[in-house]
Amino acid sequence: MEQTQVVKKGVEVEVAVEKLAFGGKAVSRVNGFVVFIDHGVPGQIARVRITRKKRQYAEARVIEVVRQSPDYTDPFCVHFKLCGGCSWQDIPYAEQLRWKRQHVADCLEHVAGVGEARVESCEPSPRLTFYRNKMEYTFSDRRWLSDEEIASKDTTYGKSCALGLHVSGFFDKVFNVEQCFLESPESVAVLKSVRDWCAGSGVPAYSIRTHKGYWRFLVVREGKFTDQVLVHLLTADEPGHDRHVDALVRHLVREFPSITTFVHSVTGKKAQVALGDSSRVVLGPGVIEERLGSLRFRISAHSFFQTNPFAAMRMYETVESFAELNGTETVWDLYCGTGSIALFIASRARRVVGFEVVEDAVRDAYENCRYNGIENCSFVAGDLKDMISRGSDEAGSAVPDVLIADPPRAGMHPHVVKTVLELAPKRIVYVSCNPSTLARDLTSFLETYKVERVLPFDFFPHTPHIECVVKLVRKA
Ligand SMILES: C[S@@+](CC[C@H](N)C(=O)[O-])C[C@H]1O[C@@H](n2cnc3c(N)ncnc32)[C@H](O)[C@@H]1O
Repeated sequence: MEQTQVVKKGVEVEVAVEKLAFGGKAVSRVNGFVVFIDHGVPGQIARVRITRKKRQYAEARVIEVVRQSPDYTDPFCVHFKLCGGCSWQDIPYAEQLRWKRQHVADCLEHVAGVGEARVESCEPSPRLTFYRNKMEYTFSDRRWLSDEEIASKDTTYGKSCALGLHVSGFFDKVFNVEQCFLESPESVAVLKSVRDWCAGSGVPAYSIRTHKGYWRFLVVREGKFTDQVLVHLLTADEPGHDRHVDALVRHLVREFPSITTFVHSVTGKKAQVALGDSSRVVLGPGVIEERLGSLRFRISAHSFFQTNPFAAMRMYETVESFAELNGTETVWDLYCGTGSIALFIASRARRVVGFEVVEDAVRDAYENCRYNGIENCSFVAGDLKDMISRGSDEAGSAVPDVLIADPPRAGMHPHVVKTVLELAPKRIVYVSCNPSTLARDLTSFLETYKVERVLPFDFFPHTPHIECVVKLVRKA
């Protein structure tokens, strides 16, 4: 170990990789100075190059593994490291779960003073590959080239139509996906078929430099429990070009009879987001159905749905059990999205009121209630911090006996936390996708509530992402 080595950009240094930090990077120290390493595995001795030096820490990438870690496992995807996706593929699954639990425990202990022992083992995802029900692929007029392709000078750079995922760390670079273990082999086959067809169509892919070109995004959604497939193609708005899309659809359904619906959206947005300004259904009903337990959900091209339905089922069962419902309670479901949790617990509650800012999601939530014959749920549309005061009216003047909150990564707004404390429900079930904002919000609850359970969940195997369900019980 080069203990006297100065840490500065460009310098190469040998380090021992100590642990995985919250967020996914590996951590080592040079003379006590923290160095975050992309794709390091704890237990490795590695030669790294410093890529960035800040006052408090440096960043580095591995040049050579000098001694391999006993905790290393071979990654299974050819695009590992190039793709921003499954960055923990070289860490055994049991170790991934151990680190995820540790990251929740560290956040809760340091920020909220919740004892480390309170945090239970991380619930594994029921599926470790092909667990996603939605993949979003991006078109580009320039394909990302490998180092070998650049060295060979025999390239199609600048002429090719790429369709795939973003290169890790580059929102504007797209590589052609040849293999992916996230959704299904069929999703990749559809992607390749669309790519080949579009490349041969003579119609160019969209360029984010010139904002010219037609093909923009391909989204493949699957009902994992129904085998229905929705293909959503987004293009620029070019008069007369619908015929190209119609021809593509005729080609696709011949090759993939399992595609049950196809939606075409056009977008004039310059931003790289797969959101259409307007849509037309080219094939089938425009929606697919998914089942979670005995519930049925209709999913359209733009509606939100949990991306790992196998893990979502487990989590919803946990929310239900932490809520301890006996059929007499009024339950409020804060940040309810399309109402999946509300619907899931509805049969065990007297009444459920959901709150959600996205109006389309609230419309889907009502639609899902009708579809399942559920009559004791209602939903309030709008920003929760302005609308939470309306909850009692919506619930027939009832304050919540039990409150469920599943906020976005930013956590709960302070005004919402304050109002929840005034409402004083007997139990709060807090579902979080970000342990640091969870820990911050818990600090406000701890005077009045006892943390009874903390159960981390893995929704995204081979990535550092972590979900967590916390059961809080009012002290008095
Ligand atoms: C993690 S998702 C909840 C998903 C939902 N519980 C489910 O399982 O399908 C968070 C939700 O909070 C909503 N949201 C974000 N900010 C909000 C706000 N200020 N007021 C109300 N809802 C908000 C988002 O639109 C999103 O649907």
